[in-house]
Amino acid sequence: MCTLKTFPIENTPNGRELWQSISGNFDRFSEIICEFVDNALSNFRKYALDPQTSRKVRIVLREQESWVDVDVIDTGTGIRNIHAALTLGSRCGAESPLNEHGMGLKHALASVDDEGCVWSIQTRTPEDNELDRHLLVEGPYGLEEAPMMGQYRAGWGKLIRPTGTAISFRCTRRRFETLRPVGDRAEKSFDTLVEILVEELAYTYAQVLQRGEMTLEVDGGKQTCVVHPLFPIWDKDGTQEIPAVTCDLGGGPVELVCRYGLIRGRKETFLYYKGNMESSGVEIRCNGRVVQRGLFRRIWNGRVHPSRNHFLVQMDLRAKNGTALPATKPTKTGFWDGDPRLEALFAWIRSNVPLPAKEEPVEKRLVRVLAQNKAVEEGVLRVAQEEDTYRSLNLGTKMDLFVSYRDRTVVYEAKKAGSRALDVYQLRMYWDGCALDGRPITQGMLIARRHCPEVEALVEKMNSFTDPTGRPYQFCLTTWEEEGIDPCAV
Ligand SMILES: Nc1ncnc2c1ncn2[C@@H]1O[C@H](COP(=O)(O)OP(=O)(O)OP(=O)(O)O)[C@@H](O)[C@H]1O
Ligand SMILES: [Mg+2]
Repeated sequence: MCTLKTFPIENTPNGRELWQSISGNFDRFSEIICEFVDNALSNFRKYALDPQTSRKVRIVLREQESWVDVDVIDTGTGIRNIHAALTLGSRCGAESPLNEHGMGLKHALASVDDEGCVWSIQTRTPEDNELDRHLLVEGPYGLEEAPMMGQYRAGWGKLIRPTGTAISFRCTRRRFETLRPVGDRAEKSFDTLVEILVEELAYTYAQVLQRGEMTLEVDGGKQTCVVHPLFPIWDKDGTQEIPAVTCDLGGGPVELVCRYGLIRGRKETFLYYKGNMESSGVEIRCNGRVVQRGLFRRIWNGRVHPSRNHFLVQMDLRAKNGTALPATKPTKTGFWDGDPRLEALFAWIRSNVPLPAKEEPVEKRLVRVLAQNKAVEEGVLRVAQEEDTYRSLNLGTKMDLFVSYRDRTVVYEAKKAGSRALDVYQLRMYWDGCALDGRPITQGMLIARRHCPEVEALVEKMNSFTDPTGRPYQFCLTTWEEEGIDPCAV
């Protein structure tokens, strides 16, 4: 086959269309804010700025009629190369592993840009400081045919220190409301949404804030709130820490810091560390910044059993070189699934973090304590939990507790809270089954926290009946307290 003609493909994108095409990938408003915070943090790290004076990000939120005006102002050293910074996919300005895709700033601005194109960047480098000026770039985004213009203006502009960057934009109320916890449709006030944003930041940057790498402030209009790191409350004796180990996941040395165990659910938070299914599983951070959370099935190939809702694994991957870390998704809300470094990390977790044993239900634990108490009583020959009854019919019914004494046999039906009429019939089933199996019971005990008058009346009535072998029933009510067991302490 011979070539008849060769011609260049004209595929220069239209700026506006390209801008629209990269919007809409963030699910939540907080993810957008984190892109700006990441850039500031990356700059602080690169230039090892003074943590006291020059490592601050202030987020200013102002509620307007149907929108919110937002400023994200940092005290870094400003954007050195505005051309590269505004070029989609350009990585030539990267200052740390946090500048990974060359997209965040554009991606985030495009995602809040609802028609109005109201956004701006003001930045002031040390050189600008000497000339007492700042650089301003305003939306709309443009490419070759209609380029954006950079303008130097006198003074600090919105900046709060001699150098730094301020990103400003207008965001619809609807987009701001994506701060609401997933599935929560209840109307939230502006102030509550601001509180949720503070929690998101406290969680996302917990380790970064704890190490004093930066200060974060949120000014919601009524007050300015300093963001304090948010941590889980670990169960007293349920946590393990694996001392920092240096590994190679396939891209160079990375230090792995791992802590795991059971947590106590936090009551005051909106989203995090609540001890529920959403806040359990594996949480993975890169240099302190959370990237993915709630991992369980992907690592252990199974469902999260409700009794593991309090199980948390915190992994922090520390590396100066970005190639040592698994690649993140462009929104930094998770890792790229096909990355072999991620697989290597999962393999490490599987090898070093044991899954918690399924938690024993309260009722079972109570019966176990009761069984222990009975075992040391005078004249006891045998104590058995989950013993079969109705063997003659092969029903597979198990009795909570069976105790055989030298001169009698006692069976227990146990309830962790109050008893109900149905429980008396359950006890009767144990009795009847044992009677027909030829192992007569002397006394049937219903043990619970409390018994209502109706249950007392039913037991009295039942004791006037006889079982299938003609022996009268002998049922009694007792409580955990009477047996010397505190249900709250078990
Ligand atoms: N607040 C800032 N201070 C200093 N430089 C900044 C700031 N924000 C952006 N930049 C510069 O602009 C560049 C582009 O930022 P952008 O967020 O678009 O991509 P990135 O951070 O390189 O990659 P990623 O997609 O992973 O966020 C950064 O690499 C950095 O050089
Ligand atoms: Mg970025």
